[in-house]
Amino acid sequence: MKLLIIGDLVGEPGREALAKYLDNKRELFDFIVVNGENVAGGFGITPKIASKVFNLGVDVVTLGNHTWDRREIYPYLDETEKMIRPLNFAPGTPGKGYTIVEKNGKKLAVINIQGKVFMPPIACPFLAVDELLPEIKKITNNIIVDFHGEATSEKQAMGWNLDGQVSLVYGTHTHTQTADERILHRGTGYITDIGMTGGHDGILGMNKKESIQKFKDGLPARWSVCKENIKINGIIVDINEYGRTEKIERLNLHISI
Ligand SMILES: [Fe+2]
Ligand SMILES: [Fe+2]
Repeated sequence: MKLLIIGDLVGEPGREALAKYLDNKRELFDFIVVNGENVAGGFGITPKIASKVFNLGVDVVTLGNHTWDRREIYPYLDETEKMIRPLNFAPGTPGKGYTIVEKNGKKLAVINIQGKVFMPPIACPFLAVDELLPEIKKITNNIIVDFHGEATSEKQAMGWNLDGQVSLVYGTHTHTQTADERILHRGTGYITDIGMTGGHDGILGMNKKESIQKFKDGLPARWSVCKENIKINGIIVDINEYGRTEKIERLNLHISI
């Protein structure tokens, strides 16, 4: 099974870059999974933008700490099977933390969890995922985990915690791709962060001027999406018949739109 997994799409440049990339490559992948927490101008996602992302051929959208930025998405999260938010948000919040999609006779489970370190307070991602896994493993061994977190140590700990239990643990949220992709001892693919899809000549996909100013004066800033040096960031992963990673390859590609 070949998967394309794309790091946080930031605004329209991110979406357009993905559209251009997929134009002649969509058929190469069994499933396409995208982190969409920043696709609405950098903050959250709306149902209208979600449908544009799904129309590109995306199978599952994962989210993160920006899940709740746009209220329009709350009811949508309860209606769709294709968009998930971190599993370890408080019980009763809209949506769910995992999904199982099926296409051409193949099944893929996608789990979204969020870190506790240097992040807004949230329930423990380790306990949440450990509790969920036995249920999912009754249905499929093809299981990938988007760990949305800031701290490298916490992400590495999650990788080893789930080694041999899931197909892949990949990080999102920092918007900076790490060069540590590997296959752990028991066959779980791992990378600390798959990076960001959008303008790379700003700060985390937003224009640099406002960000630099905010670091200087601490006053509220009005962010805008960066449109310079647009790149696709993500990974391409081959998963074998036992649900283990055979190959993990980084994608870091300049796209002119
Ligand atoms: Fe993000
Ligand atoms: Fe995030």
